[in-house]
Amino acid sequence: MSLPTVDIDLVAFTADPYPILAELRKHTPICFVPQLQATLLTQHDDIFTCEKLVDIFSSDQPGGLMNELMGKNMMRKDGDAHLLERRQAQPALSPRTVKSVWKSLCERATSDVLDGLENQDTCDLVRDYAMPVSAHALRFITGLTNMSPEQLDNSSQAMIDGIANYAGDPLIQQRCEQGTQLIDDCIDDMLKADTLLSEHSMLAALMRAQQPLESVRANIKLAISGGQNEPRDAIAGATWALLSHRDQLDNILNHGSTWLHAFEEYARWISPIGMSPRRIAKDFNHKGFHIQAESRAFLMFGSGNRDESVFEQADQFDITRSNSKSLSFGAGPHFCAGAATSRMLIGGVALPMLFDRFPNIQLLEEPVFSGWAFRGPVTMPVKLK
Ligand code: HEM
Repeated sequence: MSLPTVDIDLVAFTADPYPILAELRKHTPICFVPQLQATLLTQHDDIFTCEKLVDIFSSDQPGGLMNELMGKNMMRKDGDAHLLERRQAQPALSPRTVKSVWKSLCERATSDVLDGLENQDTCDLVRDYAMPVSAHALRFITGLTNMSPEQLDNSSQAMIDGIANYAGDPLIQQRCEQGTQLIDDCIDDMLKADTLLSEHSMLAALMRAQQPLESVRANIKLAISGGQNEPRDAIAGATWALLSHRDQLDNILNHGSTWLHAFEEYARWISPIGMSPRRIAKDFNHKGFHIQAESRAFLMFGSGNRDESVFEQADQFDITRSNSKSLSFGAGPHFCAGAATSRMLIGGVALPMLFDRFPNIQLLEEPVFSGWAFRGPVTMPVKLK
């Protein structure tokens, strides 16, 4: 059977993908969407199963925008080539290093950011808190401590925009190239001044493992493009979720649930990464549908995370539920390499330290959320005291 084709309104999908994803899950869970030129898998179990079939759902996407603009990183490789690069980065990202090295540095940097807000009554929580907290963590972990938080955030956004620039807008491409050039220059500077390089950083780990410099550059760019906006969006988004569900915030303050539960549930409810793309490496039949070789498929994590057959009352934010089946970090060999970092940074540092310093923090208005591939609040005005 050939795949059903479903048209979607991209503007509405970007503003709020969840109603459209609910319809797709119910009526056409595997379908071709012409506006995205991709086959969408929207049910939890299909995503969970298919992501592991790497000989069919390949991450190797020759000619893709990510390869062209950022170089070929581990996320665009399969099998042994992928595993090798992932293992080489592991010393910098392992739960042990996160706990023994990065946590205290993140606490110190977060405390400084909070000190900077001490004399303000209001702020934009995305720009003034979530962004620098996330960026400082990534400066330490990548080893690019010569980048400012703003430079890191801007380059991250420029790369994200660049790899989604299917329309070929020259300005977006130019901004992306400037962002990647800045990262290359900062890598070169850090390598020259190798005494400044933390031995625990990703840059140091990859150089020690003698990864080719071209791949080192590509993997550092991957960490910056993938490791900045998601924690930023999750820190601000989870804060909003707790402030608009006061009973659940009280539950944490009374030691019933934890900040980590709040982060995990937020990331299920509003997935900071809504999808991961794959190339269909050979003709594939699934549940009677034929998916053509060399076509593109999107694993819709954000949709699987709202699948009612797996999560009861999936559209509700409920920090007391189990999230063991959540797809927020993926479900296969490319499972987020920064998961331990994110849990520490968001659940262990950013949320508890914010509510501890500003216990009376309040929303000044409802934030506007945007995005379906990457989703988070655009701005979030809050009263701090
Ligand atoms: C809220 C925070 C984050 C979320 C929700 C998130 C989510 C994801 C997702 C969904 C994937 C793709 C998984 C797949 O295709 O199966 C991924 C991959 C990846 N993430 Fe994260 N991420 C987060 C933070 C980070 C951070 C802080 C870093 C770096 C320090 C990072 C580094 C990576 C890397 C290197 C990969 C590629 C792994 C591979 O190809 O093996 N992520 N992440």
